[in-house]
Amino acid sequence: MPDETTTTTNAPPPVRDWPALDLHGVDFDPVLAGLMEEGPVTRVRLPNGSGWAWLVTRYDDVRMVTNDPRFSRKLVAEHDVTRLAPHFVPVDGAVGFEDPPEHTRLRRAVAPAFTTRGVERLRDRAREMLDELVAGVLRDGPPADLTERLLAPFPLAVVCELMGVPAADRPRMHEWTNLILSCAQGAERSQRAKDEMCGYFADLLRERRGSGGEDVIGLLASAVAAGEVTESESVGLALLIQIGGEAVSNNTGNMLFILLTRPELRDRLGAEPELRPRAMEELLRYIPHRSAVGLSRIALEDVTIAGTRIRAGEAVYVSYLAANRDPDVFADPERVDFDRSPNPHVAFGYGPHFCVGAMLARLESELLLDALVDRFPELRLAVPATEVRFRRGALIRGPESVPATWS
Ligand code: HEM
Repeated sequence: MPDETTTTTNAPPPVRDWPALDLHGVDFDPVLAGLMEEGPVTRVRLPNGSGWAWLVTRYDDVRMVTNDPRFSRKLVAEHDVTRLAPHFVPVDGAVGFEDPPEHTRLRRAVAPAFTTRGVERLRDRAREMLDELVAGVLRDGPPADLTERLLAPFPLAVVCELMGVPAADRPRMHEWTNLILSCAQGAERSQRAKDEMCGYFADLLRERRGSGGEDVIGLLASAVAAGEVTESESVGLALLIQIGGEAVSNNTGNMLFILLTRPELRDRLGAEPELRPRAMEELLRYIPHRSAVGLSRIALEDVTIAGTRIRAGEAVYVSYLAANRDPDVFADPERVDFDRSPNPHVAFGYGPHFCVGAMLARLESELLLDALVDRFPELRLAVPATEVRFRRGALIRGPESVPATWS
């Protein structure tokens, strides 16, 4: 537990610049590593926004901040907090920018789509879509870019199915998502993509009014009709779920890169299929899913964390990536250890903003890992690992393409 009684230090730590880095592979961000070394609570300045913010990196402190109502998300939208992205990803009033009880109300509107039953409802359809994609890759033969052929289209198809977005609209969803999740295109281009996607969902919600249905748009349309959420709240929520859905492409791209560059890990998954669920959790823990940090929180009152006094009104970031490497919780944290148990990682976040799509992400990753290991037993990179291109200027890290071959 964070120690509230520790003596508060007087001199605040120096403000460190945290530039946008285009890192290769699953290299851990050296700036973050340095900050973790410096202390449990440091101060950072990111490329956009103004001023500085606190950064909390230890596992217990991260869980405390993310689960403590003294830190608000709602207030972030009102501050020009120093940040990585030139723009804010969530729309005002969407779940990312709400606090309980409003936040709980919004999440409740779509909860049935994300329960075990809701996610399992998609399993057969998801498997079918993946089988089709895999069959196409096998039919065309090696080499193939597995990002283009599997890791991008599969999560996109699943999230569109979850949402109730027609298959014909998948390409534009993909394009808008990429633009919104980029910090390289400038705030204006990202904002335009966000507005266009919002317009799309507003139309779809109107079309679906009164139609019911178990997909996200159906649930949101019913919630709007019942007066439980407003139209603009449901548009903001739809946008976040849609773009969140594609996170799986990047995450499984990183998983694949690890398996193809460390054949001993891949061989174990082939030889010991029962190990796969645990291996997947370990890969989730280990993968540096994002660049720098996401959305901050604003302290509503003075709070002391690990001896450092944070004043009301100041912005605080947590790093889930850093928490997942906390040696007090994960022995030998730099090692990918498929036997790690327990593995209480926070790759999907913690507290009320815990990833709404965690169960769906696990389902998709499980299906993809099974397909990659079982259907492509001889899979290997078609280029040297150093030549695999990783996304640049992206908020979420992952390979742009994974050129692979097999016999
Ligand atoms: C491996 C894939 C994924 C990872 C690693 C991941 C990780 C995360 C993390 C760390 C958070 C933020 C917690 C915070 O704000 O403190 C989050 C939030 C969120 N994720 Fe995911 N996610 C993944 C997949 C998905 C999928 C598949 C969806 C949708 C289908 C999704 C939708 C969302 C949404 C809507 C939020 C905002 C929740 C809120 O603020 O209440 N994510 N995710």
